[in-house]
Amino acid sequence: MPQQAAKAESIHVTPNESGFGAAITGLDLSKPLPPDVLEAVRAAWAHHAVVWFPDQPLTHDELEAFTLQIGPFGHDPFIAPMEGRPHILELRREPDEKARNFGAGWHSDWSFQDRPPAATLLHSKVVPPVGGDTLYADCTRAYDALSDTMKRLLDGLVAVHSAALPYGTKGVFAQETEKRTMKIIVSEEAEKTCPHPLVRTHPVTGRKALYVSPVYTVGIEGMTYEESAALLGFLYNHMTRDEFVYRHKWQPNMLTMWDNRCTLHFADGGYDGHLRVMHRTTVAGDVPH
Ligand code: SIN
Repeated sequence: MPQQAAKAESIHVTPNESGFGAAITGLDLSKPLPPDVLEAVRAAWAHHAVVWFPDQPLTHDELEAFTLQIGPFGHDPFIAPMEGRPHILELRREPDEKARNFGAGWHSDWSFQDRPPAATLLHSKVVPPVGGDTLYADCTRAYDALSDTMKRLLDGLVAVHSAALPYGTKGVFAQETEKRTMKIIVSEEAEKTCPHPLVRTHPVTGRKALYVSPVYTVGIEGMTYEESAALLGFLYNHMTRDEFVYRHKWQPNMLTMWDNRCTLHFADGGYDGHLRVMHRTTVAGDVPH
């Protein structure tokens, strides 16, 4: 397939005022990006953590090919992928669905894995006329804003992650009674735990970020349940303060790519009665340090 003609100088990066989140225009993601353009996209992504590309009507093959330009696919457990597309999840909610919309809790994707995905890419196919935004929290600025005393306390801590709360055999999805179009696979596998540093260092920017979430973090090593619950509760409130959150509004055919190493996200509802369809891939990541 021919590479596109775009040059690194022709792409436009328009950041939000906070610097967290940026739109990228001036390229066509349906064709392989030349190395300098790909480098510019990677740099913008590292710098702004959430980047979105409007007006990119991608086929499944093109979404997969762009994902692979960023890195190898991650492993997506507990959700049946699209037929014949083992690396694409369809996040689909029908107009008559009453089950809570998928992703409606702050989390970083698959943080219970030994090597959680570095990136998630979400491509909008059908966007409801109201609601359905995705909220992103900047865990780097949230860390930076803490006092030095709190940073010192957190820096050596290890948080324990697990998929049990959503995907375990007694978890939220196991207990669900309402119809859900997405095929969720609840499993004892979800009850495994995985330790990660509570503060992780971004492998590209070298910046520190808080790495815990109410969906997947189940405790802090060496602390009682009450101690970790109090500390994690404080951190969740802090990380999701308005000043650290960007509310992303979708348009059809928009591709958004976020960095799971330094952000949390939350899928907002508010679109009952309307169809919403998104296609999602992940890019493999490293062991958090
Ligand atoms: C997710 O990946 O958690 C869902 C995001 C969304 O549907 O907005």
